Amino acid sequence: MYKGPADWTLIGEVKNNPRIHIPIFGNGDIDSPEKAVEYRERYGVDGVMIGRASIGHPFIFREIKHYMATGQQLAPPTIAERVEAARTHLRSSIAWKGLYEGVVEMRRHYGNYLKGLPNVKEMRLRLCTERDPAVLEDLLDEVIGNYAAEAA
Ligand SMILES: Cc1cc2nc3c(=O)[nH]c(=O)nc-3n(C[C@H](O)[C@H](O)[C@H](O)COP(=O)(O)O)c2cc1C
Repeated sequence: MYKGPADWTLIGEVKNNPRIHIPIFGNGDIDSPEKAVEYRERYGVDGVMIGRASIGHPFIFREIKHYMATGQQLAPPTIAERVEAARTHLRSSIAWKGLYEGVVEMRRHYGNYLKGLPNVKEMRLRLCTERDPAVLEDLLDEVIGNYAAEAA
């Protein structure tokens, strides 16, 4: 999506300018709780924003909050939580963009939500070639069911 590392030095300079009296938030390349804390401390910003790392992994916000509050890593989301996040995204996508565009636009996101799951390739193909939202929801149920069967 972007090339090269984000340069935070200007953000740090703005934050450390004594004439600046508004909160300064930084962003660019934050993809883990450790990095959020490290960059916040290194550049003295009042907050950080997350872009790409939240795509298909909205759990990063609670993971960072938890890490900042406790210094401990939060357990990763369950498969069911990941699938339910994809389902919410699908429904919102359709509500926002309409049936056709909402379904098609969602196709780029399934891989991120289901990353690392067994047989993800085949399931992603099915999700990405289906147009009927009811069938898509059944497929998401199937992912949860498959995983439960795999785990058992
Ligand atoms: C899907 C997407 C859309 C974006 N749209 C805009 C935009 O409209 N205007 C803008 O200034 N930056 C936009 N950005 C850049 C982000 O605000 C952010 O600066 C950049 O993604 C770096 O942060 P990250 O490493 O956390 O992704 C967008 C980024 C993404 C991933």
